[in-house]
Amino acid sequence: MIQVSGLRKSFGGKPVLSGVDLAVGQGESLCVIGQSGTGKSVLLKCILGLTQPDAGQILWQGRPLDRRTRPAFMARFGMLFQGAALFDSLTVWQNVAFRLRQRMPDAQARAVAIEKLARVGLGPETADLMPAELSGGMAKRAGLARAIADDPAVIFFDEPTTGLDPIRARRINDLIRGIVTETGATAITITHDMDSVRAIGDRVALLQDGRIAWEGQVPAMDHAAPLAGFLGNTPPL
Ligand SMILES: Nc1ncnc2c1ncn2[C@@H]1O[C@H](COP(=O)(O)OP(=O)(O)O)[C@@H](O)[C@H]1O
Ligand SMILES: [Mg+2]
Repeated sequence: MIQVSGLRKSFGGKPVLSGVDLAVGQGESLCVIGQSGTGKSVLLKCILGLTQPDAGQILWQGRPLDRRTRPAFMARFGMLFQGAALFDSLTVWQNVAFRLRQRMPDAQARAVAIEKLARVGLGPETADLMPAELSGGMAKRAGLARAIADDPAVIFFDEPTTGLDPIRARRINDLIRGIVTETGATAITITHDMDSVRAIGDRVALLQDGRIAWEGQVPAMDHAAPLAGFLGNTPPL
């Protein structure tokens, strides 16, 4: 579905990504882990076209993502941003239906939004609230509803549990796993939370020193030497 090869990106002469190779298959759930500041978000921004890489290639369904192919890709992806990043001047339903409203009447877009909110455990009474009125967990859920509103083929999750307590984090992980499984979407999750990896991932890749230092199936990570130090950093439940 997505293949990244030889991806490089520096900021002010400081290399962040120095040759990242990574692939995710259709319907697969890949987690990218790494310490804070290793370039996980930069990697995601390169794939999304929000940051221009210095070198390397990104293929989508075997074709390079460029000015010509990117619009079709952009119409097929959903994104849950770190910290939810809701538009604070729009209501919850308007956030969820942001993209839908460009191509359907408001009444219909609102109905879809309410259906997606229900899928993430938020009742219709939340539809007309403003983001400032939501708790952290509710905002994540609303962000998740927005990410899946347009039935994306590829969903990106950037640190989906950051800022949540362990119980709410676990609920969000379970929700994400359920949604990924039932929609058959390809998922790329960026996280430093090993509980997220176990809950969400089929496969896991460790980003370290600008490269993928290890990758394998999730059950194999307990026996992977390069991950030994990293697993020890899991915050206690
Ligand atoms: N637009 C930018 N300009 C300069 N430096 C940046 C920019 N974006 C990211 N960086 C730097 O790149 C490194 C990786 O950042 P990031 O991808 O956000 O890390 P994380 O793995 O925590 O998501 C950090 O040192 C960060 O300061
Ligand atoms: Mg980040």
